[in-house]
Amino acid sequence: MKVTAAAPGKTILVGEHFVVYGEAAVVMAINRRVQVTVEDRKDRSLYIASDLGFSGTFVEDEYTAETGDVGGGTVLEPIKISAQTVLKAFEENRGLNIAVQSAIPMAVGLGSSGALAVATVAAVGKFLGSDLSEEEIVSLSTEAEKAVHINPSGIDQAISTYGGVIVYKKKEGITRLKTTSDIPLVIGNTGIQRNTGTMVDGVRMKRKQFPEIMNLMNAAANHVSRQFIDALKRDALNRLGEVMDINQGLLMAIGVSHEALERLVYAARANGALGAKLTGAGGGGCMIALATLDGRERVSEAIRRAGGTPIIAKKADQGVHCWIHE
Ligand code: PMV
Repeated sequence: MKVTAAAPGKTILVGEHFVVYGEAAVVMAINRRVQVTVEDRKDRSLYIASDLGFSGTFVEDEYTAETGDVGGGTVLEPIKISAQTVLKAFEENRGLNIAVQSAIPMAVGLGSSGALAVATVAAVGKFLGSDLSEEEIVSLSTEAEKAVHINPSGIDQAISTYGGVIVYKKKEGITRLKTTSDIPLVIGNTGIQRNTGTMVDGVRMKRKQFPEIMNLMNAAANHVSRQFIDALKRDALNRLGEVMDINQGLLMAIGVSHEALERLVYAARANGALGAKLTGAGGGGCMIALATLDGRERVSEAIRRAGGTPIIAKKADQGVHCWIHE
């Protein structure tokens, strides 16, 4: 028997960085997915074949590369840990062949590692004969991600599991938000990889240097998130775009934008986008432009001309799901 699970990536619509200081972030699942297929293996090792440029075998924690270098062990680690976490939860001691296909670029803030953890947990769970609940998938994949990142909020795992749109606040956790709009986006990838922790540290330093200014920024971000959520509930796309532009101004002011991101943001706005901003940690990575369904091609072309790699996307209502191949 073979089981496949597919899980969507994500984009942060508004509220990144300010979420660390208690404001609401709005996160959306996108129709770009990773697929993880699990099947039986004779020995006790985990063999992972991926289209990420790396394939190899884990025997306990020892990695042997088959394609790519040994560094691939680090890239594949979240998949291994997710599989081990589920095997342990079911008190199973067995090996697995795991095949990974990803349509989500890595390390640019589109939630590829959260989606991989979620799809692995769901696929291994189903392979062991259990339909894990959404809550169990979030909890097991967050546990696995904790072993990889220092302080994951669990937001990437939640959005990949549930799909749709969620609002996250540190104090209140996750609330799912119903919206009928497709939320058509063009994501622009600068191709510049960045480290989320470094960007978060930069903002912390700025808060130390300029506490009064940064507190006012936070208060503004609070209203940005509120008005964004309000416009989302009313499907008021033009208003959403305007609020995203304001959010970009705040993100630039706290020092997390980048010349390459700004270029793509301005190119998108000049070509019919309703609003545009960086998404995620900033300093490189991706920006998002809100567009109309018909206007996405033009925005996409403008992003390409400005040096970015465009990804046409929209909201994915379906979260993680599994199927069995006989
Ligand atoms: O780079 P991403 O998409 O993982 O987003 C990071 C979001 C931050 O607000 C900058 C950090 C965080 O932990 O919320």
